[in-house]
Amino acid sequence: MVNIPLDILQAFILTMPAFAANPLAVVTGGHAPMDFGKTFPDGRRILGDGKTWSGFIGGSALASILGLLIYLANLLLGSPLVSYGPNLLSAFVLVLSMGISSLAGDAIGSFVKRRIGLERGANASLLDQLPFILFTLAIVALFFMPFFNAVYGNLIGLVTVVIITPPMHRAVNIIGYKMKRKDVPW
Ligand code: CTP
Ligand code: MG
Repeated sequence: MVNIPLDILQAFILTMPAFAANPLAVVTGGHAPMDFGKTFPDGRRILGDGKTWSGFIGGSALASILGLLIYLANLLLGSPLVSYGPNLLSAFVLVLSMGISSLAGDAIGSFVKRRIGLERGANASLLDQLPFILFTLAIVALFFMPFFNAVYGNLIGLVTVVIITPPMHRAVNIIGYKMKRKDVPW
């Protein structure tokens, strides 16, 4: 049954662990660069100081906690949304994977930024805003196909997350900047 408002809301809520991972990484980040300070053969940093293990691990962990809260809220409220899984463990595996792939996709974006000569923190518009969500969707499609089909398979969910991601990413970064958690508003 097609229910467009519900499909949009469902995609927005259930993709939250992937959306939240980056802002949460800003909170825990800043320690231990993921590239260990190493440079690529082109002489530039592999990823740069903006991608750290403390951000990656802390952001993934906090995103998975958020995902579990959504899972439990869905369960307790008897909501019509698709569930992350048949039990707490499988839900945890999915939401943790979403957090990890979101930050891995974000790091891939930084890798590309460094290769085209953009410094850490430079504004790269769609390159800052899209790799994390596209990589998350690819991982979910590959490893959690029933969930992917249920949430994004009718295209409404897929289009929703891809369209809302850039403006939402921008808005959250402006908030982070105003709260002095980020040095730049992008
Ligand atoms: N952060 C982190 N580890 C991550 C992701 C983010 O520590 N894996 C923290 C860093 O302090 C980073 C901030 O969150 O500066 C904002 O993240 P982001 O905008 O993605 O990084 P940038 O500093 O803009 O670096 P880049 O140009 O590589 O995207
Ligand atoms: Mg940035």
